[in-house]
Amino acid sequence: MLVTVKEDYDAMSREAAQLVAERLRKKPNLVLGLATGSTPLGSYKELIRMHQKEGLDFSKVTTFNLDEYIGLSPDHTQSYHHFMMENFFRHINVDHRYMHIPHGMASDIEAHCEWYEEQIKKVGGIDLQILGIGANGHLAFNEPGSSLGSRTRIKTLTEQTVKDNARFFKNQKDVPRYAITVGIGTIMDARELLLLGSGLRKADAVHAAVEGPITHMCPASIIQMHRRATVITDTEAASKLTRSYPG
Ligand code: F6R
Repeated sequence: MLVTVKEDYDAMSREAAQLVAERLRKKPNLVLGLATGSTPLGSYKELIRMHQKEGLDFSKVTTFNLDEYIGLSPDHTQSYHHFMMENFFRHINVDHRYMHIPHGMASDIEAHCEWYEEQIKKVGGIDLQILGIGANGHLAFNEPGSSLGSRTRIKTLTEQTVKDNARFFKNQKDVPRYAITVGIGTIMDARELLLLGSGLRKADAVHAAVEGPITHMCPASIIQMHRRATVITDTEAASKLTRSYPG
């Protein structure tokens, strides 16, 4: 696992975007796993800039998002579908036919989860998976206690995650309680992982994920088992790490 600590959020975002751009230039039909949340926003902004100013081409890219709330339609302003459209997809030349986000209103959620896994397989698997980390160490909506071999499925969100996500909703009671999430096993199947962590609020989780024991109580710690994982953080998120890492 390669850990890089950058001075602040912007530097972390640029470093991550550069890694993505490098992989994309090498493989124009990259299969890219994407996360929502505030952490990757700066990297998406930088990738949009690279597309607009440097012609970074997303036309052959296939994308798979990690998760979606159950009960929100794709055009709901708090759905992850809407988030991705607004913050990334509508600013780049990704082909919308190659875009995948779990559908929060699917009539048969279990069948939809199986279908999602099949779509990933069908394109030959994910080349590069971008990940954020929850303050409790979750990956996607795989909360502490999730099976480390899990696949795409329905999960109940923890109170902590509901609280964390409440900032995006008018009232905490409006935050959905269930989500579709890819599993830890699905994430680990990606050929490369890029985990980002920013801010003091993530310091404990980053420490547990990078230097702690591998345990389902910190799902992100499983990335220690991945053959090709890069962690990029800012100094705040790295503040509880006990070893020194390059900048
Ligand atoms: C998002 C996701 C979540 C977030 C995590 C961090 O698709 O799967 O695991 O990556 O909750 O969220 P932020 O970046 O908002 O702190």
